Order: sequence, then structure tokens, then C-alpha cells
Amino acid sequence: MKRLEGKSALITGSARGIGRACAEAYVREGARVAIADINVERASATAQEIGPAAYAVQMDVTKQESIDAAIAACVKEAGGIDILVNNAALFDLQPIVEITRESYDRLFSINVGGTLFTLQAAAKQMIAQGRGGKIINMASQAGRRGEGLVGVYCATKAAVISLTQSAGLNLIKHGINVNAIAPGVVDGEHWDGVDALFAKYENRPLGEKKRLVGADVPFGRMGTADDLTGMAIFLASQESNYIVAQTYNVDGGNWMS
Ligand SMILES: NC(=O)c1ccc[n+]([C@@H]2O[C@H](COP(=O)([O-])OP(=O)(O)OC[C@H]3O[C@@H](n4cnc5c(N)ncnc54)[C@H](O)[C@@H]3O)[C@@H](O)[C@H]2O)c1
Repeated sequence: MKRLEGKSALITGSARGIGRACAEAYVREGARVAIADINVERASATAQEIGPAAYAVQMDVTKQESIDAAIAACVKEAGGIDILVNNAALFDLQPIVEITRESYDRLFSINVGGTLFTLQAAAKQMIAQGRGGKIINMASQAGRRGEGLVGVYCATKAAVISLTQSAGLNLIKHGINVNAIAPGVVDGEHWDGVDALFAKYENRPLGEKKRLVGADVPFGRMGTADDLTGMAIFLASQESNYIVAQTYNVDGGNWMS
């Protein structure tokens, strides 16, 4: 039996990468999925490739009216919202003395503000519907400890883990489970950008950092976006009803907690 049959899901930042893989997996499990992304052309192409159970929604998680419109689109297209995956995020990297206010504001506004206010809007809709729901925040191993060159991004992901705990505790009385996934290093366009930044600041050839972090993973390689989908389905399904406010590492053994 399909595990998300008849459910309506919204996944932010799902035009590509981990969000897209989760959208494909949710559709395979019977859900209808909003491919919500700031890049609407790519979201539309992704939705078309996934098939009729997916639809594109233009969404900027830093804008309240855009968040509200995305929730309204789920109500119109799919009769409400049962599952939210807060996945959209940006990365940046620089030594502490070079961090700019612009970088700080941009990352906190997307990674933390976007997560909190999308979670809030979805929770209000779920409470009004009265049938509970599942909220999954994409954290990171970067939220488990600081990294010398990754100060701002690590701080945003630590905040996502903390918000997951508070929201999980506050919303479970409505039957809304809030949990998070902490991926490790996942190959794809995101990590191509990360690799280029490490190349610049650590004076390495392109591709070297990626090779090194992959070789360091106890599993023996970087993750793929598809490696994340099992946990994303589990946390969206009835099987995780008794799980509240947790962050699960899906990282090939990089971090133990
Ligand atoms: N790739 C990794 O190694 C890795 C590791 C740990 C955690 N993560 C986390 O997993 C999630 C997905 O990562 P990914 O590698 O698929 O990233 P990605 O960069 O490939 O995809 C992010 C998507 O978010 C969209 N986006 C950016 N700003 C937005 C905004 N303001 N509103 C809506 N959408 C916006 C982008 O257009 C893009 O489609 C992120 O939260 C990331 O921090 C990734």
C-alpha cells in the first residue's frame, strides 16, 4: 500500500536537488505535491517531468505574502495541506572576519525566517483543517557543530534544529508532528557551489574538496538526493506519529547524536 495516499504536500526549494527527490518519492507514495520554488521556470519543468500529481508554485520563503499564496495554492489545488517540507536554503562560506551583514541577513532570512514563517502558515492551515499534519525541516550536519569557514550557515542550521524542537513541542497537541532531517554531504548542484567556495578560500583545485569530504564519510561516498527520501517518507507517514521534535542524521555515519 502507498504510504502517503491522498495526502497533500508542499516542498519548498523543490525545483532541484534534495527537494526534488523528495517530491518524486512523495508522488510515488501517492501524494499530490506542490513544487514550490523561487525559480518558477525550473519548478514548472520539474513538475512537468514528475507528472500530473505534481504542480509548480512560485514561492519566495522570505516574503509573507508569497508564503500565504503558496498555502492558498495547496488549498485550491489539493484541498488543503497535510505535509510541509521546509527545504529551501542558501549556503555561504567565508572566514569570520569577512562575514558581511548582507550574507548574514540573506542566509538567516531564507534558512531560519523562511523555515519559521512557512512552518507557521502551514500549521495554522493544518489546525484549521483539524486533521493534524507532518512538518519536516531540512537541517544539516552543519547545525550539529560550527565549522571555521561556515559560521553563518552553521548557525542557521543550528537554529533550524532548535526551532524544530520548540515547534514540535508546541504543535503536537494539534496532532502536528514537527521533526527534522540532518543530511551530511549530498552531491548535486548545491555542493558544486560549496566546492567552488572551498576552492577559493582553501586554495584548492575545483573538485578536490568534494573528493575529500566524500572519502571521509564512513559509508564511503557522498550522499545522493535519493538517499534522503526514505527518512522524508517515514517522517511524513503515519509510521512516525509518536515521533516529536527530533532531528535525524542521514549522513552515511558522519555524525552521531
Ligand atoms: N546538499 C548538501 O550537501 C546538503 C547537506 C546538508 C543539508 N542540506 C540542506 O538540504 C536542503 C536542500 O539542499 P540542496 O542541496 O537540494 O540545495 P539546492 O541548492 O540544490 O536547492 C535549493 C532550492 O531552493 C530554492 N530557493 C532558494 N532560495 C529560495 C527562496 N527564497 N524561496 C524558495 N526557494 C528558494 C532554489 O531555487 C533551489 O531550487 C537545504 O536546506 C540544504 O541546506 C544540503
